[in-house]
Amino acid sequence: MQTQRLEGALLENPEQASLFQQPIREPVLTCEDNLSFMERLPDGQMKLVVTSPPYNLGKAYEAKTSLDAYLESQERVISECVRVLHPQGSLCWQVGNYVDNGEIVPLDAVLYPIFRAQGLKLRNRIVWQFGHGLHSTRRLSGRYETINWWTKGDDYTWNLDPIRVPSKYPGKRHFKGPNIGKLSGNPKGKNPSDVWSFPNVKSNHPEKTIHPCQFPVELVERLVLSMTEPNDAVFDPYMGVGSAVIAALMHDRVAYGCDIVPEYVDIAHERVRQLRTGELRTRPMGKPIYDPSLPNGGH
Ligand SMILES: C[S@@+](CC[C@H](N)C(=O)[O-])C[C@H]1O[C@@H](n2cnc3c(N)ncnc32)[C@H](O)[C@@H]1O
Repeated sequence: MQTQRLEGALLENPEQASLFQQPIREPVLTCEDNLSFMERLPDGQMKLVVTSPPYNLGKAYEAKTSLDAYLESQERVISECVRVLHPQGSLCWQVGNYVDNGEIVPLDAVLYPIFRAQGLKLRNRIVWQFGHGLHSTRRLSGRYETINWWTKGDDYTWNLDPIRVPSKYPGKRHFKGPNIGKLSGNPKGKNPSDVWSFPNVKSNHPEKTIHPCQFPVELVERLVLSMTEPNDAVFDPYMGVGSAVIAALMHDRVAYGCDIVPEYVDIAHERVRQLRTGELRTRPMGKPIYDPSLPNGGH
């Protein structure tokens, strides 16, 4: 398979390291533990590391351990991710709650000291709000998770324009002062803020596969577009079915990903193939969320 061949050229032969600088759009997807995969990656090349790790909830793809053991294993992975991260790069760790006997532990709170100890700087704690999930009976139903955006330094790649959203009042003008009569907002749209509403990938979502907790591709697209440039490298160390890889490839970035479940990696390869042939269905960025109170759901 071509990706395997490229992977060998890229990762195992140091003489070929210059390949890394070139716009290779063939993704490197592998069925492998992330620590062993990262051992073969050079320092400081990934412009964006974006992932959602297991939450230690005992899902099909993880063995539940103590919270301390979980945090120790996260620390090892995060430390390697920081090593492979570009000096102007961003690391986005998307997490929810660890739940033990009905008590919740927000994972971003307990992971925070680990990222700080690595010298990273927190730029945003993005709240991702979604509509569907379990209905809790003894507490409020959880309907958000967070994306913790860390950078390696103060000089980081950041492009706001590609992710601007329509202004509420696009034609609004200054009514006094030196700019009277001029548009008061940015004509390209407004900053999308740190609260994002995207449908989570449940059964009627066009991107749904067998994976129990996929990223919506549009969520990763926002991160890719704002935190990287074309041809930059994007890596997901807990790739699942490759949603981050798809978002990266859709915008001409170079994608790397690994997962330990062969079936997920096979689906990731298949999704890449479908992307190439134009068969892959993704929910477009900017599509309004279905609202049953509006005609045709607001679409
Ligand atoms: C929350 S899911 C990520 C799903 C992914 N964002 C997507 O869109 O499909 C976490 C993934 O981590 C994988 N995983 C668990 N331990 C791993 C390890 N040591 N190395 C690589 N992947 C691992 C699991 O198989 C699972 O697919």
